[in-house]
Formats: sequence, C-alpha cells, structure tokens
Amino acid sequence: MVKICCIGAGYVGGPTMAVIAIKCPAIEVVVVDISKPRIDAWNSDTLPIYEPGLDEVVKACRGKNLFFSTDVEKHVAEADIIFVSVNTPTKTRGLGAGKAADLTYWESAARMIADVSKSDKIVVEKSTVPVKTAEAIEKILTHNSKGINYQILSNPEFLAEGTAIDDLFKPDRVLIGGRETPGGQKAIQALKAVYAHWVPEENIITTNLWSAELSKLAANAFLAQRISSVNAMSALCEATGADVSEVSYAIGKDSRIGPKFLNASVGFGGSCFQKDILNLVYICECNGLPEVANYWKQVIKINDYQKSRFVNRVVSSMFNTVSGKKVAVLGFAFKKDTGDTREAPAIDVCNGLLGDKAQVSIYDPQVTGEQIQRDLAMNKFDWDHPMHLQPTSPAALKQVSVVWDAYEATKDAHAVCILTEWEEFKKLDYQKIFDNMQKPAFVFDGRNVVDAAKLREIGFIVYSIGKPLDAWLKDMPAVA
Ligand code: NAI
Repeated sequence: MVKICCIGAGYVGGPTMAVIAIKCPAIEVVVVDISKPRIDAWNSDTLPIYEPGLDEVVKACRGKNLFFSTDVEKHVAEADIIFVSVNTPTKTRGLGAGKAADLTYWESAARMIADVSKSDKIVVEKSTVPVKTAEAIEKILTHNSKGINYQILSNPEFLAEGTAIDDLFKPDRVLIGGRETPGGQKAIQALKAVYAHWVPEENIITTNLWSAELSKLAANAFLAQRISSVNAMSALCEATGADVSEVSYAIGKDSRIGPKFLNASVGFGGSCFQKDILNLVYICECNGLPEVANYWKQVIKINDYQKSRFVNRVVSSMFNTVSGKKVAVLGFAFKKDTGDTREAPAIDVCNGLLGDKAQVSIYDPQVTGEQIQRDLAMNKFDWDHPMHLQPTSPAALKQVSVVWDAYEATKDAHAVCILTEWEEFKKLDYQKIFDNMQKPAFVFDGRNVVDAAKLREIGFIVYSIGKPLDAWLKDMPAVA
C-alpha cells in the first residue's frame, strides 16, 4: 500500500488529500499539521474550512484511508510520498520584505523531513513557491540525507476556493514537474499513477521542475491581470456611459479572449493573487528584469485603485461625508462560497469607510465577528505603493458591528455596500430594506449582483461597478 503524508492541513492540503483518499481507496493518506486546533477541527463535525461538498468527501473516507494527525514526524517517516502544503506568505521583514515569498515554513518542513526519514521519499511541492525553490529544498535534503534518496517534484495546485471539490474532481489539468534524470522520471510516474485513478492521462502534464514552479505563478498572474484589465475598463465605462457587462460580453465572444473571468468588481482578494504576483515581481527584479517586474506590479496597483475608487464613490455620493452615518456592508469573504477573508477587498473598503468615521454594520453568512475584527485591525505591509486605506485603530473598531442578518445590518442605514457576490444577496427583500433605511437610500453594488433597475423603481440610488451612472452619481463625481 502506497502511503501519502501531507504536511499542512489548510485550504489546499485538506481538500486535496480528501479527494486523493476518496479516489484512491488503496492509498493511505495522512494529513499532518503543527496546529492542534486545526487537526481537531478536521477530526470533528465542524471542519475548519467551508467548502461546498467537502463535508461529504471527508465523511466518506475519514477513519478508513484518510487521517488527520499532529504526529507530524511519525507519519512523515512512514510515508512514500510527502506533499508539502504549508503556507508561503509574503515576507514582512528583511531582504525582499513586502514582495518575496517567506519560505520559513517550507524550510522547517524540509529539515524535519531530513531529520526523521529512514527510507527513500518523493517530496512534492504543493505550496506555491518561487521558481528554483526545489533546488534549495534538494540541497537541504541531500546535505542531510544519511544515504536516503530524495526526489523533489513540483505539483502546484490550481483549485479555486469556493469550487475546490469540483476543481479537484475535474481538474483542467494536473501539472507535475521533475528532474530529467531516470530517478526524476520514475518519481513523476509514481505521482502520475496516483492522479491517473481519476484524471484522464491527457490532462496530466509533465514538465521540468522550473516550468512547473513558474507555471503556477504565471497562471495566477494571468488570472489577476484579467480582473485588473476588466476593472480598469469599468472605470472608463463609468466615465463614458458604456456598460462593462456589455463590453465583457462582446469581447468574451472572441474565442481568443473567451468569456470567463471577465466580471468587473470591487477588486480581487484571496491569499494567492497578490502574494504570487509580488513574488513574481521580486523574482523578475532579482533576475535583472525591471520592465517585466513593473508590468506585473501594475496589476496590483489597479486592484488597489479599484478599492479606493469604490470608497471614494461611496463617500462623494453621500455629500462627501459618511461621518456618523450607518453603512451596511453585505459580504466580507473575498468571494462567495468561502469563509476565507485573506486579502478580501472588504477589509480595505471597510477601513476606508471607518477612516471617514462611518458606523459600519457587517453581515457575511460565513465569517465570524472575531475574524472581521482581527482583519480590520491588522497592519498591512506597505510594499511600494501608497496605502490609501489604513488599518483601523482600536478606538475606531468601536464603529464596527457584526450581525448575523442582512436586514439587521441594513436597518436605519444610509447606504448598503455589497462586497461579496453571495447568492442570497440577489434574493433579499429590497423593498423591506428600503422601507427601513434612511433616505436618500443608497446601494453600492461592488459585485454587480442586484437588479439595479428594480432597485431604482423602489427608490434607491444605485451604483453598479462599470455601469452607466444615475443622475445623482453623475452630479457628485468621485475623485480617485
Ligand atoms: P493555510 O495557511 O490554510 O494552511 C497551511 C497549513 O500549514 C497551516 O495549517 C499551518 O499550520 C501548516 N504548517 C505550517 N508549517 C508547518 C510545519 N512545519 N509542519 C506542519 N504544518 C505546518 O494555507 P493554504 O491556503 O492551504 O495554502 C498553502 C499553499 O498552497 C500556499 O503556498 C498557497 O499559496 C498555495 N495555494 C493556495 C490556494 C488557495 O486557494 N488557498 C490555491 C492554490 C495554491
């Protein structure tokens, strides 16, 4: 029986290993983590992350061939294949701070593997890492090898939060990079055999190590760039009277462009896009490619601009001040169907509104009040662009309330800001919301989820990103 161990029971490690376990009943899969609360949650009825379909998959194989444990060393020692899926955040101090990936967790995992291993291992990079990380990991392992043979593979994960289980069941592709040596090729085949239980062979791509590592950074950079491109267009649409949905539809019909991932919004979030682009920028700079670095940096700058632009639109529309006014925020997670708030645009938007002294009442179906308070108080690293949206001071956090109901959040509010595209926000009784709000009542739709025409009929002043502006909004231009 092949034994797999995955170090890191997070958003990637947990779902990925659960799907391997359910698809490969003859393989034993153990997910290990240094965080006891996380492992306890994986072993309980309330999993540590919310992901549609995940509960069912975990329940079907937990205790049979899927296990969660804090006994990291034991399971690493016993495994044939070790996935490393630890976090790789942006460095906040020292060389490359604000851009480079912090590989502290990775390095400590690699050193621990070297310490406890007594048999040959295939070590798989599942985390997103800078290109050439495998070389560093290889050095750590081989210099401490005690005669053990290690093969390093890069197998980046392309799942998207909110659709992780679907993505893992039917991946567009699985990418495996390895050394071009006989040992490297044998390791690639061993990992390919795992995925071949459910992924068609033609969808399993094999490359050299560096191509696989760089492909993950490139994929996230291209995806984020698409969002920034359509968001840049949304600003121009508002200025000219064009409608960004019509523009997206028209350009998406071109088969070279395609229709997906062209929705304008208040900005992208999530733990990966910004981090991975900053990492790419840093790698370009280190390789003497400042022009390429600046090109990708612009993707993040447009994202920051979009968030500031949204806040400015809210404030300017409401007579240039939101001081003391209740503003309801619907949605805090970085996108629907996840409780993940890492780099969520809602954090910057709320900080912006709080900076202007608004009373902010927040409702998200999957995010707790403690999480929201933590996010708003967190210091963000100021890389090399001016931060318009500063973190909220402890005193200003008193202006925040978190409620478990959209109607409660919007009661007596002057404005509603929709910052996550949860389906339930489309189905709210907006007449009831309007009746209970201060007048004029505003809706600022940062995800283009509401039917603006219907809301205008009710009496709302509505701002939809990238859509022709109401007469009211035209009279109160936002300066970004
Ligand atoms: P996460 O923060 O949810 O999970 C990482 C886990 O690793 C944590 O539970 C932490 O306690 C554990 N850990 C850290 N060091 C450890 C050690 N030495 N031994 C044992 N456990 C250790 O992170 P997430 O979101 O799962 O991301 C992991 C990697 O996957 C990152 O590199 C990320 O860029 C990449 N990725 C993330 C995606 C996402 O949607 N979240 C998608 C694709 C890739």
